[in-house]
Amino acid sequence: MRGKHIIVAVSAGIAAYKAIEVVSRLRKKGAEVKVVMTQNATHIASPLTFGEISGHPVALDMFEQVHQWDVEHIALATWADAYVVVPATANVIGKIYAGIADDMLTTTIMATTAPKYLCPAMNTEMYNNLITQRNLEGLRSLGYHIMDPAEGWLACGITGVGRLPEPEAIVDWLEAKMCSTNELEGTTILVTAGGTQESIDPVRYIGNRSSGKMGYAIAEQAARMGAKVILVSAPTSLPIPNGVDFISVDSAVSMQEAVEARYNDVNVVIMAAAVSDFRVLHKVEQKIKKMESMTIELVKNPDILQGLGSKKSHQILVGFAAETEHVIKYGQDKVAKKNLDMLVANDVSKSNAGFNVDTNEGYFLYPDKEPKEMPNMKKSDLARHILREVIDLVANRADIN
Ligand code: PMT
Repeated sequence: MRGKHIIVAVSAGIAAYKAIEVVSRLRKKGAEVKVVMTQNATHIASPLTFGEISGHPVALDMFEQVHQWDVEHIALATWADAYVVVPATANVIGKIYAGIADDMLTTTIMATTAPKYLCPAMNTEMYNNLITQRNLEGLRSLGYHIMDPAEGWLACGITGVGRLPEPEAIVDWLEAKMCSTNELEGTTILVTAGGTQESIDPVRYIGNRSSGKMGYAIAEQAARMGAKVILVSAPTSLPIPNGVDFISVDSAVSMQEAVEARYNDVNVVIMAAAVSDFRVLHKVEQKIKKMESMTIELVKNPDILQGLGSKKSHQILVGFAAETEHVIKYGQDKVAKKNLDMLVANDVSKSNAGFNVDTNEGYFLYPDKEPKEMPNMKKSDLARHILREVIDLVANRADIN
């Protein structure tokens, strides 16, 4: 979002106060934000607050000229790289679709050629009203991006659809929409994530410390870069990233089945999942009762990635290695053994890398190139670096074929 010029336009929904946090979050991401309000919205949230948070005077009045040489609504419209209406009331949605431009909000949105994003929020009946739905559909067909409202308790005292989503969700949605590229268009990428669970009895399992954050970050970035993404995930507590086909699995064997069923149809597999090397030999159907001691016999699980490597044809295979010592050496052994095109070797003994943290670091290893060191960074940034390598690997594979 860094350097983007974003207009946040606030109409008179009771959730207008949430737009303050949207502005603040956009600025924290490096965007420059100017706020436009309808006169009615000023009864709900103060222009003074929006002015302070955005760092710019709020545009309210069509006839007050801030810039001496320019007509303000045109100046704003030309300045914008993106125009976001939050909240968008039924009234404002209707006016925009009808082509009415009678205040600062409706005039600037009509005058700008920037991409437009609406976050509708209103009473459930107003949202479901066929006129509102027709207007939203019409705007969609004109290229407007419309966020689905959330469900929940509404200010009018009922529970239903029409709630403005939380500011964090709005900014994530905007970022996903605005920062999309098409570098991976035409590429199908299967990503695995999370830690597999090996059942002992109906209530217990053997698991590991993977949160899924690394794999989900890769899936999310790949979708933003235009790839068709299949996310095969062991259980996590993370929300499903926008725009991915989501396949839920639990054990290593179920992950293997899900991956192998799709292997021929994908160009790239990235295995960030922490797959259990063992499973319980005799799974018990009823809950095991307390006893002084017990022994559980484990058998070896299939190595999913090694299996894929042994029958690789057109696919690019990227593995991960969770190591605690000799990171490069052990990682390189896995590149050879599993017939990989690339491996991300992370040192999981560090407190700011590996399992269940937001940052990671390590080495990119290849069968035929020197290792590339990756310093500590956010998992989303590391995901972008991995995908840039994938773009090169896909291009090289296309050259060879
Ligand atoms: O999920 P997070 O909390 O964000 O943590 C991220 C992570 C630490 C889980 C991730 O960065 C990571 O290192 N994933 C791989 C963990 C792992 O299983 O490493 P490994 O060295 O045991 O396995 C090597 C590769 O073979 C991995 O790509 C793994 O997915 C795959 N494998 C392993 C065992 C097995 N039976 N089948 C496999 O396919």
